[in-house]
Amino acid sequence: MKRTKINLLIKLEKSPGNVLVKGWVRTRRGSKGFSFMEINDGSCLKNIQVIATGDLKNYHDIETITTGSSVSVAGKLAESPGKGQKWEIQAENLEIINLAPESYPLQKKRHSDEFLRTIAHLRPRTNKYGAAFRLRSEMAFAIHKFYREKGFRYLTTPLITGSDCEGAGEMFRVTSLDPEKVKEQGEMDFTMDFFGQESNLTVSGQLSAEMFALALGDVYTFGPTFRAENSNTSRHVAEFWMLEPEMAFCDLKENMDHGEELVKYLTRHAMAECSEDMALFSNFVDKSLSKRIDTILNSEFGRISYGEAIEILKKSKKKFDFKVKYGIDLQSEHERFLAEEYYKKPVFLTDYPKGIKPFYMRMNDDGKTVAAVDLLVPGIGELIGGSQREERLDILEKRMNEMNLPMDDYWWYLDSRRFGSAPHSGFGLGFERFLMMITGISNIRDVIPFPRTPGRIDF
Ligand code: 4AD
Ligand code: MG
Repeated sequence: MKRTKINLLIKLEKSPGNVLVKGWVRTRRGSKGFSFMEINDGSCLKNIQVIATGDLKNYHDIETITTGSSVSVAGKLAESPGKGQKWEIQAENLEIINLAPESYPLQKKRHSDEFLRTIAHLRPRTNKYGAAFRLRSEMAFAIHKFYREKGFRYLTTPLITGSDCEGAGEMFRVTSLDPEKVKEQGEMDFTMDFFGQESNLTVSGQLSAEMFALALGDVYTFGPTFRAENSNTSRHVAEFWMLEPEMAFCDLKENMDHGEELVKYLTRHAMAECSEDMALFSNFVDKSLSKRIDTILNSEFGRISYGEAIEILKKSKKKFDFKVKYGIDLQSEHERFLAEEYYKKPVFLTDYPKGIKPFYMRMNDDGKTVAAVDLLVPGIGELIGGSQREERLDILEKRMNEMNLPMDDYWWYLDSRRFGSAPHSGFGLGFERFLMMITGISNIRDVIPFPRTPGRIDF
């Protein structure tokens, strides 16, 4: 008989008679001549109740089944007289696949997130993490669905790169040079390295995406990116997934319209397709989640300039650790104040001073600010970072010179402005930050299967 997943079983209107289920035992309790088990197979939050009676030939072994053991159950799906479930399985054959010892770390009590991080290989077997990673899967699918419906093309961009997109110097080097030889020679000779030049893991697929937007029109990349920033915060990891749409013939306003539509679409999809898992988050993880989701879905996101934001921050009576003045890179405390306390909803900030933004952002007419946009959201801070791109060759070259960028390395990027240049815009949405926002999970380490952070590469 074919194995049925519990998510399908529990939705059945009529019993198909016999079923086969395989999964892990969450709890077992025995009473005279019976064993009741709650089995979970990871397909959904709900367990299925299994009843094993004393007349099963291996009943003696069944009585030794512990929490965490894996089992295979064949039996009749019957309406459950008990409360809390529609169906139960009356076991006719129950095989123990593997008996978990008493040392199985996930016993019935609630465990802290910190503890569960130390057993990240087992945590997806808990209710909360099972829900988080099912949602993560569904959201990745929703991204592709959204873009397919909008006629975008999916682009995969290189993970190993010879250029620095953000220019923030936070890249992981990729090399095949032998460290022993490098030590002997006293320096790294990149001409002898695999690619004949310095190479790194990408911090963003944007520059490649721009080339394709200027060929296929509307494209998006969705993949892992890497940053060697040494910030041990609850919102940074060294390896994270970024969604990067890039749109030809698109200005900053259309870029924001797109970002707002995307965030609402994905949030609505989560509510519709993962309602059971989402209910767990609002009941047990973050009591203010429902309200936040409601705000995301039903408010018009705010739109203000960086300059206006600085004025709001200055006028607020709030004490910030980092002093506010025009020209600073906004800190998380400022971003969260604006989204959480002042606007109480997501807010786009535009037109940042050029000095704190990368070379590719389009220069505004004032010559001082660029057409940058960040989306700040309650609970997280920055969710999206993007811009309209500088499409004018002379202005781009001037800006790159000012910033001392090696022009020769970017010859191909400049070519795109030389031949059929066109206005275009895009942004990057941090996938883990998005998941934090819609689950209320407050540490980014808990929405990514195996987090990579400074000093930690377990699992
Ligand atoms: O603002 P960022 O640095 O933008 C870019 O990389 C642009 N090149 C994207 C583009 O325009 N195509 O990063 C984009 C988003 C941030 O807003 C944040 O959500 C997320 O990526 N992010 C991180 N998420 C987790 N850990 C980190 N260390 C992150 N750094 C950025
Ligand atoms: Mg940013």
